[in-house]
Amino acid sequence: MAFRTVGQLTIGIFVQKHLRILNLYAGIGGNRKLWGDEHEITAVEYKPEIAKIYRDFFPNDKVVVADAHQYLLEHFSEFDFIWSSPPCPTHSRTRTMQKKKVYPDMRLYQEIIFLKYWYKGKYLVENVIPYYKPLISPTRILHRHCIWSNFWVQDMATEPLQTCKAVKERELLQEKFGFNLDDYTGIDKRLLLRNCVVPELGKHILDWAEKDVIIEQPNFILP
Ligand SMILES: C[S@@+](CC[C@H](N)C(=O)[O-])C[C@H]1O[C@@H](n2cnc3c(N)ncnc32)[C@H](O)[C@@H]1O
Repeated sequence: MAFRTVGQLTIGIFVQKHLRILNLYAGIGGNRKLWGDEHEITAVEYKPEIAKIYRDFFPNDKVVVADAHQYLLEHFSEFDFIWSSPPCPTHSRTRTMQKKKVYPDMRLYQEIIFLKYWYKGKYLVENVIPYYKPLISPTRILHRHCIWSNFWVQDMATEPLQTCKAVKERELLQEKFGFNLDDYTGIDKRLLLRNCVVPELGKHILDWAEKDVIIEQPNFILP
């Protein structure tokens, strides 16, 4: 454990080296890209063609082709850290531009409440900034995401990802995220890349999940 003193505060930081991680709604693994291989990672993605790409990039991970929402319910207690990226299209601000109106997908809030009350490890649920006031206040807004977590995540400066007007958007994102999809066919590569959490942000969040931060304030009297 390392101790650091900041003014009157003593901050103790334990770093957990090996975590059993559940990566739900894995996509091709933008959030996971820089996590390395020292952890035991289980990824859940329901589209076999996307799960295959994830498996190609991260051969050491266990990849489960299944419904992530149900998998969480049945397996949550087997993991130390759970990352969930439930589908965002029904929450996105782009919804307001679409004629066909749909119900927001409440699995997002089901998972936040479920993890908050029943799960003993660390969790982070990530979604877009919605077109409505979030029903549960996010713990932080990072980049283009609302996040709900039960551990401290330091703010992080990220450059805005304004690639949608770029002529060669796919190539740009491939290069930026470090995923080469040239050899894959029959999939919307641009969408897969646009769905990715920026790898540096995924790494930043895992770095904080690995830490147990204890803050001691001398002479602090409980009210
Ligand atoms: C926003 S993307 C995830 C992005 C990922 N976190 C990343 O950083 O690359 C959501 C993914 O969840 C998958 N998905 C949607 N509904 C699912 C479900 N019920 N079970 C498992 N995967 C699902 C989609 O196919 C898509 O690949």
